[in-house]
Amino acid sequence: MPSVILGFAAAVAWEAGKPLVMEEVEVAPPQKMEVRVKILFTSLCHTDVYFWEAKGQNPMFPRILGHEAGGIVESVGEGVTELVPGDHVLPVFTGECKECAHCKSEESNMCDLLRINTDRGVMIHDGKSRFSKNGKPIYHFVGTSTFSEYTVVHVGCLAKINPLAPLDKVCVLSCGISTGFGATVNVAKPIKGSTVAVFGLGAVGLAAAEGARVSGASRIIGVDLNPNRFEQAKQFGVTEFVNPKDYNKPVQEVIAEMTDGGVDRSVECTGHVDAMISAFECVHDGWGVAVLVGVPHKDAVFKTHPMNFLNERTLKGTFFGNYKPRSDIPAVVEKYMNKELELEKFITHQVPFSEINKAFDYMLKGESIRCIIRMEH
Ligand SMILES: NC(=O)c1ccc[n+]([C@@H]2O[C@H](COP(=O)([O-])OP(=O)(O)OC[C@H]3O[C@@H](n4cnc5c(N)ncnc54)[C@H](O)[C@@H]3O)[C@@H](O)[C@H]2O)c1
Ligand SMILES: [Zn+2]
Ligand SMILES: [Zn+2]
Repeated sequence: MPSVILGFAAAVAWEAGKPLVMEEVEVAPPQKMEVRVKILFTSLCHTDVYFWEAKGQNPMFPRILGHEAGGIVESVGEGVTELVPGDHVLPVFTGECKECAHCKSEESNMCDLLRINTDRGVMIHDGKSRFSKNGKPIYHFVGTSTFSEYTVVHVGCLAKINPLAPLDKVCVLSCGISTGFGATVNVAKPIKGSTVAVFGLGAVGLAAAEGARVSGASRIIGVDLNPNRFEQAKQFGVTEFVNPKDYNKPVQEVIAEMTDGGVDRSVECTGHVDAMISAFECVHDGWGVAVLVGVPHKDAVFKTHPMNFLNERTLKGTFFGNYKPRSDIPAVVEKYMNKELELEKFITHQVPFSEINKAFDYMLKGESIRCIIRMEH
């Protein structure tokens, strides 16, 4: 039986917006259908920042954040048959039980049991946390809590991947890159020659642009408020750039003028409701499809005239690019291994675990695309 792991480092968010603190924590053994994972590499996604800031999201502290990572199975709990110690895994914030109606449907990845729940800070099995410090529990985050040398994850939230895949690269497939790429190829589905607008040119948006590029889009219009993004975005197939700050009219009107009535597809990767509305209103009537990916403020309201729908525009949204983590992600990792998908260009920064707060600074200043956090000393 696996025992409690003592004295391993975790970066704990004690309070909203305050730097994470490296702490020695206790990590309880995995319970029924759970797996304890040694995290080797993790990276920072903007969703972690929202829940750390807790401005537009419900506060829950102390908490161990982190959901984009790669690691190795250390031990497994009762009932886990498909993973053994030593397996290489990517934890995913939304799971796949393989038994519910969603898991059985080809159209959904919204597993009834394991779909994302940002307000749950405990394990499903017993409603308790596996992390503690001096006997006091520390909350989990989206079932993954990867800002820790060891974490406990439900088996349904772990994708078993090729052990030859370098975890310091493929860890970015555990959230951002799969999300953006999948939002385009699985949900927006642009056909060859299409015009695609991407709102927000962070890792998620650039992966969405990459999805448009491999789909054969002829024009990819990148929209961002940060002009520093535009030069970088050329590497991801973005052909034109629009900064909403440069115009004194809504960006959807600017895009409609550039494209003779609107784009065929748009993918929103900002998390701001105004950009979501623009992303919808900039698609062409008759056939345009907009896909929302950004995580909105908890009180956000999406407002548009119903005529925009009557005029035959479609609005969709997605978590994790509609990929089912266990069934689909191993094949996405193989795309990287076969050089069909490049990951290196998304990785702009690296820091040791002890300097994890720098990763937050790089993201808040808009300097990084992805910053890899190395757990080993
Ligand atoms: N749906 C999902 O499954 C899922 C998964 C991962 C991330 N997300 C969300 O995707 C979004 C992007 O994540 P990221 O890690 O790439 O973040 P990021 O901070 O690296 O990139 C966001 C980009 O959007 C730009 N931006 C912000 N407001 C804008 C606006 N109004 N108009 C145009 N551009 C604007 C920023 O300048 C930045 O370049 C976040 O909201 C994140 O929470 C969703
Ligand atoms: Zn994420
Ligand atoms: Zn399910």
